[in-house]
Amino acid sequence: MRGITKRFPGTLANDHIDLTVRRGEIHALLGENGAGKTTLMNILYGLVAPDEGEIVMDGSPVTIGDPADAIARGIGMVHQHFMLVPVLTVAENVMLGAEVMNGPVLLDRGEGARRIRALAEQLGFAIDPGARVEQLSVGQQQRVEIVKALYRRARILVLDEPTAVLTPQETDEIFTVLRRLRDEGTSIVFISHKLDEALRIADRITVIRRGTVMGERAPAATSEQELADLMVGRSVSLRVDRGVAHPGEVVLEVAGLRVKDDRGHETVRGLDLSVRAGQIVGVAGVAGNGQEELVEAIVGLRKPLAGRVTLRGQDCTGEPPRRIRDRGIGYVPADRQRYGLVLAFPLDDNCVLTEYQKPPYARGMIRDDRAIRARADELIAAYDVRTPGADVRAATLSGGNQQKLVVAREFGDDALLILDQPTRGIDVGSTEFIHRRAIAQRDAGTAVLLVSADLDEILELSDRILVIHRGRVVGDFDAASAERERIGLLMARGAA
Ligand SMILES: Nc1ncnc2c1ncn2[C@@H]1O[C@H](COP(=O)(O)OP(=O)(O)OP(=O)(O)O)[C@@H](O)[C@H]1O
Ligand SMILES: [Mg+2]
Repeated sequence: MRGITKRFPGTLANDHIDLTVRRGEIHALLGENGAGKTTLMNILYGLVAPDEGEIVMDGSPVTIGDPADAIARGIGMVHQHFMLVPVLTVAENVMLGAEVMNGPVLLDRGEGARRIRALAEQLGFAIDPGARVEQLSVGQQQRVEIVKALYRRARILVLDEPTAVLTPQETDEIFTVLRRLRDEGTSIVFISHKLDEALRIADRITVIRRGTVMGERAPAATSEQELADLMVGRSVSLRVDRGVAHPGEVVLEVAGLRVKDDRGHETVRGLDLSVRAGQIVGVAGVAGNGQEELVEAIVGLRKPLAGRVTLRGQDCTGEPPRRIRDRGIGYVPADRQRYGLVLAFPLDDNCVLTEYQKPPYARGMIRDDRAIRARADELIAAYDVRTPGADVRAATLSGGNQQKLVVAREFGDDALLILDQPTRGIDVGSTEFIHRRAIAQRDAGTAVLLVSADLDEILELSDRILVIHRGRVVGDFDAASAERERIGLLMARGAA
């Protein structure tokens, strides 16, 4: 890609970017939230038209007008925000579009499902080809996106944050597959905010900042620290200091909880946990082991089959979400686009989504636009949300900036803060910031329940770590006694 430039209203997303990817190479593309990574890759995939610049493949300039063009040229992409059809099954989603590649052919569902199963097995993914996508968690959808891209056997494979909600073990499996594809001659562009991953998997690394290429590095000749500093333009501390916790009274208590998922399977099967004021309890587990249903049952989005949820000593099992929220809960959902934001609304409305009906944002039936705008400006500044202003639609923000907006809104003075994958897709600088804020909340007396597929994040933040497997707690560790290996094994197998 040569001299690629793309302007959006108020934003120069790509500023004369040059990117060279060789045959049989894994090329990592790094940059902070809003740097222009997804935009550049969307241009390659024909989703966005560049204002300037050209794309050259095998020595000749090409025009890629739309994704069908890109697919026909052998370009595959795993999208940061999944582009799956919710009402179709996993198998249908994976095959969709792939049948176009070879002209009109009959859809061989049996054969398709067999190939999908084989691929999933190779990757170590437990996905059911017959499941409807709308019934899957983000973690599972991420796996479907990856299988979909690999199913098509692309020559150029773009992976936009493929590992954001995967466990370390799953990431290893994917890396094995990516290395094999590379050795067979596939060119791979790999985007991630996990710098250690980029260093492990990449043959070369390109760093962009605010739409401009900052440099190219060989993994052997650089370090996480150098990459972080290059991305952010200042020195980033990769570790957050955490003083000891001073846990107070029990704020959240979950007892004997049983919950079904959308497919009618009981995924939370008799779960107990408690979180105290001034304490961060981390729930570690492979996605799909009941974390999502657990969190949804606590916040009132899902009715439990049995068991009790108690907040500050009061039973709130099965209450509607707003009532539960009003008891003092902040909640960062795992799926920012589905549950965290209204993408079609401007940022200012999104900043008050959970309290627009209360003063100072409303007086009776009257909305106070000025108060709402002031709140939005304050949050945008405090959390460094990169945007031309509070009046743009949330859909135009980059993935990480959407996430920052949700986090900004939910962190506050609540008694309980529930964080489900809070730094998914967030760059190193902002992750550092959010981790500091989470610890500051704890120190101010908030009870924090942290659910994350990122074991490093769990280990870094939690005072107590629970491992969840098949809907039950199978391990309970004190931060001091937590061993990475044992937790990893418990996550994968339910026993160590
Ligand atoms: N459709 C759009 N309309 C307006 N602005 C946009 C649009 N798409 C992207 N942008 C802006 O372009 C810039 C680059 O966004 P992009 O999504 O490429 O960032 P990114 O590097 O992928 O970030 P992240 O790590 O958060 O995913 C951002 O400032 C974003 O707000
Ligand atoms: Mg992006």
